[in-house]
Amino acid sequence: MRVWVNGAIRPGAEAQIPALDHGFTVGDGVFETMKVVSGRPFALRRHLDRLTTSARGLGLPDPDLDIVRRAVDETLAGNAGPGVGRLRITYTAGPAPLGSERGRGTTTLVVAVGPVTTWPDAEQVAVVPWARNERSAVAGLKTTSYAENVVALAHAHQRGATEALFADTKGRLSEGTGSNIFVVVEGRLLTPSLACGCLPGVTRALVLEWCGGDEVELPLSVLHEADEVFLTSSTRDIVPVRRIDTHDVPEAGGPVTMRARRIFAERSSADIDP
Ligand SMILES: Cc1ncc(COP(=O)(O)O)c(C=O)c1O
Repeated sequence: MRVWVNGAIRPGAEAQIPALDHGFTVGDGVFETMKVVSGRPFALRRHLDRLTTSARGLGLPDPDLDIVRRAVDETLAGNAGPGVGRLRITYTAGPAPLGSERGRGTTTLVVAVGPVTTWPDAEQVAVVPWARNERSAVAGLKTTSYAENVVALAHAHQRGATEALFADTKGRLSEGTGSNIFVVVEGRLLTPSLACGCLPGVTRALVLEWCGGDEVELPLSVLHEADEVFLTSSTRDIVPVRRIDTHDVPEAGGPVTMRARRIFAERSSADIDP
């Protein structure tokens, strides 16, 4: 795969950023991952909006979206082929001193593509013993500081699960390491509100707009009361959850989930940038 770095596109092994880039040394950067459909990025405008929001949240200069769009086009053109299923934009503070203090250098922009991600028909998830901090300075921002998610996902994998779930510091259901969660309780479609520290997922927003549903604060125990549970993310769209730790979800892939999947498939195939 060829990777776009600060204006030049090179084979992956040769694509480099400075060793003292603050994104590398302390995770001072933001990113977006989106699905690529027939060589085109899905929901690019929404992802660029969130990239800007995340950058502002870190106090980084706004990314130049004309440059980012051009970088996306050039990266997709330079990697044409059916194997390209996801695209990542990474935007960091650029070269800096060794500590947390930011440098005065220019920001770094990287655009890369990868193969399509495949998910099981229904997922098993594991609730992790660590909290999503809804009061964090970076709550709701898509920063490159993903080590907590890396540890949580490894914990889930060790238990045979494909995703980990976090509660927030108050014990409310929050999100997965790379996904948002929806539950169906007494026929109502519900998802944790943004106050519970979850990322404002692009897929989450589209599901709420297209399929309805309410954003509410949910105790973690809702996972044992829900008839249906599903995960959303840019690479998954909507995937039912069949098992949560040792608990089987009663109606995995039930009517509300299937209706949401059908609507999402129809609406997303009708508009590449909804
Ligand atoms: C922590 C986290 N929550 C939720 C999501 C889902 O967001 P989106 O639907 O925009 O992909 C992601 C995406 O990877 C994520 O990293």
